[in-house]
Amino acid sequence: MSKKLAKYRSDYRAPAFTIENVHLNIDLDDHATRVRSQLQLKRQAPGALELDGEHLELITLAVDGVLRSADSYEVTDKQLILTEIPDEFTLDIVTQIDPSANSALEGLYKSGGAFCTQCEAEGFRRITYYLDRPDVLAVFTTTLSADSEHFPFLLSNGNLIDEGKQDNGRHYATWHDPHPKPAYLFALVAGDFDRLEDHYHTLEGRDVRLELFVDKGNLSRANYAMESLKRAMQWDEERFDLAYDLDRYMVVAVEFFNMGAMENKGLNIFNSKYVLADQATATDWDFVHVESVIGHEYFHNWTGNRITCRDWFQLSLKEGLTVFRDQEFSSDLGSRAVHRIDAIRVMRSFQFNEDAGPMAHPIRPDKVIEMNNFYTVTVYNKGAEVIRMLHTLLGEQGFQHGMQLYRQRHDGQAVTCEDFVAAMETANPVDLQQFRRWYSQAGTPQVRIEQRYDAAQGLLTLTFEQMTPATPGQTAKAPVVIPLLFSAYTHAGERLLLTDSAQVNDHESGSQLYVLSDSSATLTFTEVEQEPIIAWLENFSAPVKLQTSVNTEELELLLAHGEQEVTRWEAAQQIYLTCLRQAVTNQQPVQLSASQLRALTKVLKAPIDNALKALIFTLPSAEELLEYYPENAPLDAIERAVKTLAHALANGLQEVFAATFEALESQSEQLSGKAMAARALRQRCLYFLALAKPHDYSPVVAQQALTQGNMTLQQGALEIAVQHQLPCAEQVLAEFAEQWQETPLVMDKWFAVQANARHPETVKRVAQLLDHPKFSLRNPNRVYALLASFSRNSLRFHQEDGSGYKLLQRIITQLNTLNPQVASRLITPFMQWRRFDTRRQSMLKQSLVELQQLADLAPDLDEKITSALQSEETASQ
Ligand code: TRP
Ligand code: ZN
Repeated sequence: MSKKLAKYRSDYRAPAFTIENVHLNIDLDDHATRVRSQLQLKRQAPGALELDGEHLELITLAVDGVLRSADSYEVTDKQLILTEIPDEFTLDIVTQIDPSANSALEGLYKSGGAFCTQCEAEGFRRITYYLDRPDVLAVFTTTLSADSEHFPFLLSNGNLIDEGKQDNGRHYATWHDPHPKPAYLFALVAGDFDRLEDHYHTLEGRDVRLELFVDKGNLSRANYAMESLKRAMQWDEERFDLAYDLDRYMVVAVEFFNMGAMENKGLNIFNSKYVLADQATATDWDFVHVESVIGHEYFHNWTGNRITCRDWFQLSLKEGLTVFRDQEFSSDLGSRAVHRIDAIRVMRSFQFNEDAGPMAHPIRPDKVIEMNNFYTVTVYNKGAEVIRMLHTLLGEQGFQHGMQLYRQRHDGQAVTCEDFVAAMETANPVDLQQFRRWYSQAGTPQVRIEQRYDAAQGLLTLTFEQMTPATPGQTAKAPVVIPLLFSAYTHAGERLLLTDSAQVNDHESGSQLYVLSDSSATLTFTEVEQEPIIAWLENFSAPVKLQTSVNTEELELLLAHGEQEVTRWEAAQQIYLTCLRQAVTNQQPVQLSASQLRALTKVLKAPIDNALKALIFTLPSAEELLEYYPENAPLDAIERAVKTLAHALANGLQEVFAATFEALESQSEQLSGKAMAARALRQRCLYFLALAKPHDYSPVVAQQALTQGNMTLQQGALEIAVQHQLPCAEQVLAEFAEQWQETPLVMDKWFAVQANARHPETVKRVAQLLDHPKFSLRNPNRVYALLASFSRNSLRFHQEDGSGYKLLQRIITQLNTLNPQVASRLITPFMQWRRFDTRRQSMLKQSLVELQQLADLAPDLDEKITSALQSEETASQ
């Protein structure tokens, strides 16, 4: 196989031709699907017509109705090239494909009994020859035909304009999508489903028919997704003034899907995990995720579909913005603090890690080999943080003005990140020149803040420094624009406004705002009557690592008095992290001081949201702690520190945990925010109680594991039993599997709980579960549940004997041919091999080298392995 070549952002060229109309005629068949594609092409620039196409069998080709012989065009394994052609013509191509053989789940494939497609990023070229790039926007008309009995529903984008019977038991349907769109938004589905129908009335009074398609027998699990969809449609009208633009909106849930969901125009295809949810089978967090993914794909209709990307380097244009929008949706409907904290944890546990590794890239990458490798936490989540910084700098109103201008200028176009920033800049009185560096620079900036106070003179001096470490291919870094939200407090816990400096402004969030844009800066304030305690980077106002001189006593004050919920949570996190790092350095167990225990006890008793309390009692993970040790990571010391911190809390706060747990016990089982918060806190209490007194609480946990009708409670009990290896663990596992063996999405929880377990038996257990009858490497959800979970369980993956490495290497080897996209996602923990001791380094490297030598190594893996193995010197060039 020929090696796939890198593409560079700077090489962008408009295509020689554009496609105005496409007529697709697809005769669906398990092994021999015939695709006839009629394209209306029009020249835009000189050059040959180079159509993309992979894994296709070309049957015939005609130009303006005249069949062409094979010597009048060139076919390679990636392209179909035509040279002698008019400037305007119709091209008629017939190809054949084998959907049943498609285990990569890209292009047209079978999911269970149904046909479905996944075309983003470059999957359409596996259906037919095409200009498979997002800047070619065409009007699609699609006729599908299939066996009527097995495939009663034939769906594609847009509006249904014709349907009817054919001979020999087949039928057909023709769909027309009036909105010009790139091929990555094309979709078709054919199958037999249960259908849930509803309606949404836009504020203008237009009626939209909503349809949700799920596997037979699952209708009762589709209601929450439908309600979420209506909430999303209304929210987008109210907050962004964006309304839906077709008469019909369809969502199909499928079992086999590489990612979360896909925003195909008018026909979203979803991983069933983000559609199916009821109290008996879904946890509270599952419901939250359903709502946010439903929202995310719906919001793409404007930020992604109506205004799309010019090229794939611009992916964050639609993904960063749409993640920002779905985060705001969840925050407006639920607890803003809880959702913010969730986003912050994703950044710190995963994005910072990516930014510090060999595949570090800016949110707008410059060089790509396999596009599927760039659907990353950097492009999505850091991308959303960059949008959030714009929102912080411009305020809600200024941001919305920018959005309106963006839409006015670019509706119906394929544009760039630069176009978005330019719209924000024109609509507001700001210069975003330096801000643009967030799009071009990789790496996590480090910010240092020092505070000096001169009591005699009432003088407060704050000094700031920023520095971004080198990343592969980018050694010289320039300072970026860092909005620092902060609040100052007196030692009595009262807010203190620092008003002296022209560079500090009150912000609509309630915090104050200082924007750091130089590599270093100093602020001075006079007439400050006492030394303030300052909460910095409130609400995680920039995706940076922060170093301050705030000590743990001061953090205790912020924990007790911080006006903002996120600030209180952050204070707790910093207290934990300080203790953990001290324990690692001193090679000693974590000790919590009496005053720290008192401060935490107060939190449990305070009249604040139970969901916030639950988060405050969620300790930083080993993975988060690992971020502080870029070299020779002291895994054993980290394991001990994390363990002993949990024990210190469990033992120190036993009584309050017990009292809190009892008081919450009678809470209702409703799906309200209040009930969910109570369950979350109850879970944290039980976690610590079972840690402190495993024998006393094992029966309590076993009992809760049998709760019928509430998966949050069942799964929560299972997790505690397995994590703590309670006496009841094996029995609880067996009962759970017995009850849920026929419900794959619930069995995924069972797989994940075992793969997430922090104790040393985990590697062996995961290896055994590979042979479990309900496990399959062909279904990405199973792989993510068992193996992606395991790959994120750093302490067990890096088990001393290398057994974790061998296990994952074996799986990646198998997935390399079966499903490269999924294989590539599992390789993440190998990427950081340089961060460990020499013994582990050599084992990790050995695995990478062996993988690299695979015959038929997929480009997805090749790109990552090559960058991981690149020598230190060339890596930073
Ligand atoms: N655009 C999808 C989203 O909402 C991402 C996606 C879905 C995807 N399926 C995919 C990307 C397959 C690459 C390959 O975020
Ligand atoms: Zn998206």
